[in-house]
Amino acid sequence: MAGEHGVCCGFSRRDGALIMAIPDEYSFVRYLSSKKSVDDRALNEHVRRRLVDSLKERGDRRLEVLEFGAGIGTMIERFLSWEAVDRLAYTALDLEADLVAEAERRAAQWARDAGFSVEQSTAGQIRITRGDRDAVLEFNQSDLFNFLERTSGRGRWDLLIANAFLDLVDLPTVVPQLGALLAAEGLCYFTINFDGATIFQPDIDPELDRHIEALYHETMDTRVIAGRPSGESRTGRHLFGALRAAGMELLAAGPSDWVVFAGPEGYPEDETYFLHHIVDTVRGALENNPKLDSSRFRDWIDRRHEQIEQGSLVFIAHQLDFLARRMAKHTFSQVR
Ligand SMILES: C[S@@+](CC[C@H](N)C(=O)[O-])C[C@H]1O[C@@H](n2cnc3c(N)ncnc32)[C@H](O)[C@@H]1O
Repeated sequence: MAGEHGVCCGFSRRDGALIMAIPDEYSFVRYLSSKKSVDDRALNEHVRRRLVDSLKERGDRRLEVLEFGAGIGTMIERFLSWEAVDRLAYTALDLEADLVAEAERRAAQWARDAGFSVEQSTAGQIRITRGDRDAVLEFNQSDLFNFLERTSGRGRWDLLIANAFLDLVDLPTVVPQLGALLAAEGLCYFTINFDGATIFQPDIDPELDRHIEALYHETMDTRVIAGRPSGESRTGRHLFGALRAAGMELLAAGPSDWVVFAGPEGYPEDETYFLHHIVDTVRGALENNPKLDSSRFRDWIDRRHEQIEQGSLVFIAHQLDFLARRMAKHTFSQVR
């Protein structure tokens, strides 16, 4: 049962195999790090390819990139490894100071490991160089909404990136404001947008499983943060309309589902932790929900953690990726 082991993310042996004890403390930094391999598999290759091809067509002009909700900066590592451009200024923005600090630490480490020279120019900024490649990476602790207020209407970015973020905001309000940040013909690469399916297998009790999934999605649909409606469970499908309404043309879209299961070697990388964290997130979202019998729900959560320990849990979340371009002539206004 969760917490019974009295170990934070320790390991023990069962039948000769090293297994992870159920964590009794959770770390968001570790969750985002464990999510990297899950996202790597999930990101839609057609959409990613179209992004890289579009960037290569720009020639050697320096690319200005803004990523919001960047977390610990895993997208920076990915983007640099795609080698789509030589000259780059990449600003990674996140609300949480500890995540921003970790993003800077990781990016510097990643760059050194990849053979770049790393220079710290000012606090919160590093410059990395290798041969013709020259990138300035800036780490900005900021609330997206404050950032939008400060910069409204100044369309200067060539590429906006958001990974596993847009399902936390109100699309009709936020997407037009994001569009206004783009330079003419600037691109949006919006990935891992949740879209209405959270699947745990094997079934425990199909009716209860469905009820828990529906209530979990309801918490997304009714979430209010700082007085604002904040995201929803069908963000992926609604992005088609929200992007078009905000004057973007869609260049590519496709599924980016998370699919996590144990192979012959167990769950890959740190995905055992990833799964425990996901199940604990469902617990946190629903533990006081009056529409659930609390004792049945606790048993359900315990059973899911046990399935992870046994390597039998399969987890699938349906998500969509998008590449869109700002149309040359569009005046941005709110959609509703
Ligand atoms: C699900 S995480 C995704 C992080 C990262 N993009 C990734 O995929 O690993 C969402 C991130 O959005 C950040 N965030 C949430 N609300 C924000 C806001 N209003 N302004 C800036 N960042 C925010 C959180 O701190 C968190 O790091």
